[in-house]
Amino acid sequence: MTLLVTGGAGFIGSNFIHYLRKHRPEDRVVCLDALTYAGNERNLVPLTDGSLFRFVKGNIGDEALVEAIFSEEKIDAVVNFAAETHVDRSIMSPEIFVKTNVWGTAVLLEACRRHGGVRFHQISTDEVYGMLSLDPNEASFTEDSPLKPTSPYAASKASADLLVLSYQKTFGLPVTVSRCSNNYGPFQHPEKLIPLMLTRAMTGGVLPIYGKGDNVRDWIYVEDHCRAVDLILRKGKIGEIYNVGARCEIKNLDLVRMLVSAVGEGEDRIVFVKDRLGHDLRYAIDPTKLEKELGFYPVISPKEGLERTVSWYRENRSFWEPLTTA
Ligand SMILES: NC(=O)c1ccc[n+]([C@@H]2O[C@H](COP(=O)([O-])OP(=O)(O)OC[C@H]3O[C@@H](n4cnc5c(N)ncnc54)[C@H](O)[C@@H]3O)[C@@H](O)[C@H]2O)c1
Repeated sequence: MTLLVTGGAGFIGSNFIHYLRKHRPEDRVVCLDALTYAGNERNLVPLTDGSLFRFVKGNIGDEALVEAIFSEEKIDAVVNFAAETHVDRSIMSPEIFVKTNVWGTAVLLEACRRHGGVRFHQISTDEVYGMLSLDPNEASFTEDSPLKPTSPYAASKASADLLVLSYQKTFGLPVTVSRCSNNYGPFQHPEKLIPLMLTRAMTGGVLPIYGKGDNVRDWIYVEDHCRAVDLILRKGKIGEIYNVGARCEIKNLDLVRMLVSAVGEGEDRIVFVKDRLGHDLRYAIDPTKLEKELGFYPVISPKEGLERTVSWYRENRSFWEPLTTA
């Protein structure tokens, strides 16, 4: 099988390609990535050697380039990770989010349609559902929850999801969509909460928390997410949406306290800063459908996942130091 993995030089995409190399060594991977500030080809070393891997630097919205890849390779499936992903950046510059996340997805879908109905899997997010209240009794998001995105990032992802699903209904394209909760693990850019806190804690900086730190996020270790994507790609029902989560809700302040303690620093470094515009209070994913239909359960506990993550950021300063000083 030849897979086109877009955004494969970013956080989850690179973990997914590492996962494939380990568990699907027979698959050929073509990685298309624009190498924005969030992507780095070095995240894929040492996988870049050999005939089973090809890296193409370029934009998923570039129709000619995407057509060339589909003409040169016999692509069996596309897994679309490529996206602009940072909510704060989407508040400052929403346009690029529409271009990459919506238009880019449209270009990939068209190529799949032109080339005989190529299997397409869209990587989406729980943020398309909007937010829950802080009341823990309010039910988690299911696949049937209404789409109520609040940030330009989430709105662009929701738009892309609808487009993907429309290609199944209208053209019979074999698509699936997965909506995952917050990921953490190796190769995540230090602008995101967990690596931001870890790298600041490791370099003696202050640890800025939005508002009072009451916001709740639902966390999954990135390797578990990758395993879920691989499963949905191969066994998922065409036209279906699958929520991916590990039932692991943590309040931001509690999370930062855990991280500070894991690094061996004091909580006096935590500072509370003005809240993000439209900051969603709580996300919580109900992954029952994925559990029942495909038998997926995460295997990395939060304790193990955090230990692995802390060790990785300790041992890989060359990954994040250039990004924190840029
Ligand atoms: N990080 C999370 O917690 C999380 C949770 C749920 C879903 N997701 C989704 O997973 C996917 C990957 O997220 P991530 O955290 O790895 O993102 P990331 O920002 O770390 O990586 C994105 C990658 O896409 C590439 N890219 C950006 N624009 C591109 C373009 N126009 N053409 C080609 N490549 C482009 C970047 O260079 C980068 O390598 C996204 O679709 C995101 O919405 C992320």
